[in-house]
Amino acid sequence: KSSGEGNANGKIILMGEHSVVYGKPAIAFPFQPTHVTAEITDHIYDVLRSGYFVGPLAKAPKSLENIKTLIHQLRHDFSTPPVQITISSTIPAERGMGSSAAVAVAITRAFFDWQNLPLSHELLLTYVNYAEKISHGNPSGIDAAATAGDEPILFQKSAAFETFPINISGFLIVADTGVKGKTRQTVKAVAQRFEQDNKTTGHLINELGDLTLKAKKAILNNQAAYLGELMNAAQKNLAALQVSDQTLDNLIMVANQNGALGAKLTGGGKGGCMIALASDYSTAKKITTALTNQGAKATWIQELGVYQYA
Ligand code: PMV
Repeated sequence: KSSGEGNANGKIILMGEHSVVYGKPAIAFPFQPTHVTAEITDHIYDVLRSGYFVGPLAKAPKSLENIKTLIHQLRHDFSTPPVQITISSTIPAERGMGSSAAVAVAITRAFFDWQNLPLSHELLLTYVNYAEKISHGNPSGIDAAATAGDEPILFQKSAAFETFPINISGFLIVADTGVKGKTRQTVKAVAQRFEQDNKTTGHLINELGDLTLKAKKAILNNQAAYLGELMNAAQKNLAALQVSDQTLDNLIMVANQNGALGAKLTGGGKGGCMIALASDYSTAKKITTALTNQGAKATWIQELGVYQYA
C-alpha cells in the first residue's frame, strides 16, 4: 500500500483524578467530539505535517520528540522506507484531553494500515505507551487505553484495565478554560498536603475513590441524576484538595445554574477543562451557551454511549 490512515479519540477523566495517584480507581471516557487523524504516505525522507510543525522530522521541535521517537521505532521494527505523516487534530493540547496519546494511537494505526499488517490492541498500547513515556515521563497508561478504545475505562494503578459498557442516557459537556492544565504542579501540591496532614488529605482521597466506584454503578444502572450528584461531591473534595481554581469554580457554578445534573473539573486542575452532565440535548446546548458567555474557550457535547467508530 502506498498510504495508510489511523484515527483516535480525545479522552476525559470522569471521576478519580488525583485519588488515582494514591491507588484509588478512576474512570476515563473516550471523547469523540475531539479526535485526531494521521495519514502516512511513502516519501524520500521522513516529513511531518502537523498544526505545530511542517518539515523534515529530524528538525521537529523538542515538544514533538514523542512522535519522532515513535516513528523511528516503527520504521526500525518493520524496516520500512521513509514516510510523510500528516496529522489533523481537533484535540486541544495540554488540556487533559489526551492529545499526545491520541496522536500516537493514530500514527501507530496509520503505520500498520500502510504496511497492511494486523494490529492487536495490546501491541497498539505498547507503542503508544512507549511514546507517552517520552511525553509524560511516567504515564499511568489511562490516556493510551481511553484514546484507543470506545468504552469507559475503570483504571487502578497496579491492576489490569477494566472496560465497561455505557448503560446511561445523558449528554456529557466539556468546556476548555483556555488555560493550560497544571497536572505536574497540582499532583505535587496534593502530595505536600498529604505529608503535612495525612489524616484530612487521606480522608478526602478515600472519599474520591468511593465516589468513583459509586459512579461506575450509576453508569451501569442508568442513574444519570445520581451520577450528577456524585460529580458534584467529587468536585467538593477536589476543591478541598485545592486543585480547582476560580475559573473552573465559576464555569462549574454556571453549568449547575443552567440545569446540569452535576459538574466538576477534569484532569489535573488549575486550568484545563471542566465537565458537566445533562439529561437531554437542549439542556446541554443551554449549558454550553452559558459556558461560552462566561468565557469558556471551547465547548463540546457528546451523547453518552453513542460512538461513531472504535
Ligand atoms: O490532566 P490529565 O488528564 O493528564 O490527568 C491527570 C490525572 C491525575 O490524576 C491528576 C494525575 C495522574 O497521573 O493520574
